[in-house]
Amino acid sequence: MTFNNPITAALPALHRNDFPPGFAWGCSTSSYQIEGGVHEGGRVESIWDRFCARPGAIRDGSSGAVACDHYHRWPQDLDLARELGTNAYRFSIAWPRIWTPGGTPNAQGLDFYDRLVDGMLERGLQPWPTLYHWDLPQPLQEQGGWAARDTVHAFTDYVDAVTRRLGDRVGQWITHNEPWCTSIHGHLDGVHAPGQKDFATALQVNHHVLLSHGLAVPVIRANVPDARVGIALSLHPVRPASSSDDDAAATRRHDGLRNRWFLDPLAGRGYPEDMLALLGELAPRTQQGDLDAIAVPTDFLGLNYYFPEAIAHAPGQGPLQTRVVAQPGVERTAFGWEVAPLGLTELLLRIHREYAPRAVHITENGSCYDDAVQDGAVHDSARRAYLVRHLAALCTAIAEGVPVQGYFAWSLLDNFEWAEGYTRRFGLTHVDFTTQQRLLKDSGKWYRAFLRGEDV
Ligand code: FCB
Repeated sequence: MTFNNPITAALPALHRNDFPPGFAWGCSTSSYQIEGGVHEGGRVESIWDRFCARPGAIRDGSSGAVACDHYHRWPQDLDLARELGTNAYRFSIAWPRIWTPGGTPNAQGLDFYDRLVDGMLERGLQPWPTLYHWDLPQPLQEQGGWAARDTVHAFTDYVDAVTRRLGDRVGQWITHNEPWCTSIHGHLDGVHAPGQKDFATALQVNHHVLLSHGLAVPVIRANVPDARVGIALSLHPVRPASSSDDDAAATRRHDGLRNRWFLDPLAGRGYPEDMLALLGELAPRTQQGDLDAIAVPTDFLGLNYYFPEAIAHAPGQGPLQTRVVAQPGVERTAFGWEVAPLGLTELLLRIHREYAPRAVHITENGSCYDDAVQDGAVHDSARRAYLVRHLAALCTAIAEGVPVQGYFAWSLLDNFEWAEGYTRRFGLTHVDFTTQQRLLKDSGKWYRAFLRGEDV
């Protein structure tokens, strides 16, 4: 099975009117990837500041200490989002700007996001904050981080403070970004902060992250009239690498941890039984009521879509005994991620069929290429094609009845791409990290023309 459009396929014609009225059009960013200003406004150290200081942790030895200097340049960046013609903007709130040792929320941190939100509203951008996009306060890591159940309660206190302050102007809230990455990259592969490598810890972390989502939702609803609340998951279409029964079974196991491990408990089905049986002692310790809390109804599912995976049975490879197999001859971004627009349609249809969330927002989708500035322009035709084809795939899913209500391109700006540092550019806007100059790429110009309702 393939999720690829033929590489040579002509770009489909698209019009903004092909999408439902009231659709949220935006770009997505996150705090640690763009803000910089790590020592300003009373911000405490984050696990990413600490992780970046580890030799070899970040491909180019960099950190998010300056990043896009958005902490100082946000008015200009919000102008860019407005000039693109977007009507919504997804960003994240840095918990280390709000956290203090004594527990009283840091007023300077709240003031910063207060101004940022007002800046969005002044520009006609509906704010879509994410409350946790991976930057845990380092002092909480020292008390056990997400592996400690107390962090769940620290999170709901933080959510309470933020939503009390911003809830009169912000109606949409995303609790977590990609719990899979927090858990697996942060605590099993160790390629993300805090850089741990233990399967049981990773699953316990994941349980606490999901629980903190579940307990945060009622807090948000109490503080925000008519709040719309959701969680953003990174989900992947998966298919067997061959027609063998072994690969089909391996694919089911891989799907169990990649997708069902999140979708099932959020939908009130608990953790998948087949996976609990497989994981045995590694499964998270849960307390009575946890799974009910996690199953709290939400208003939308945030879907971050990047690539599909092909899976083979791999004896000896961890408890899952699975392996991701790179498919030959497929189109890839500079990151090596398979370009598969049809995978987005397929994934949305599956989610709709099997889980039926009330609404879906594509909270991230985008591509990384080795962009070059030539005569004051960035001719990123591959990124433009990626965007066009994924939007067309989205249209197909909507036509098939999937209630998709928004699309946020990753990302507004080139930024600090975690363990890859500044070597991976995903922006619709090019950032020169020496001068901090911003330059709209051709893909950004395409998005602007599309959002203006031009025939593109
Ligand atoms: C996602 C992350 C986002 C960005 C993109 C490329 O997994 O949520 O911060 O790094 O990948």
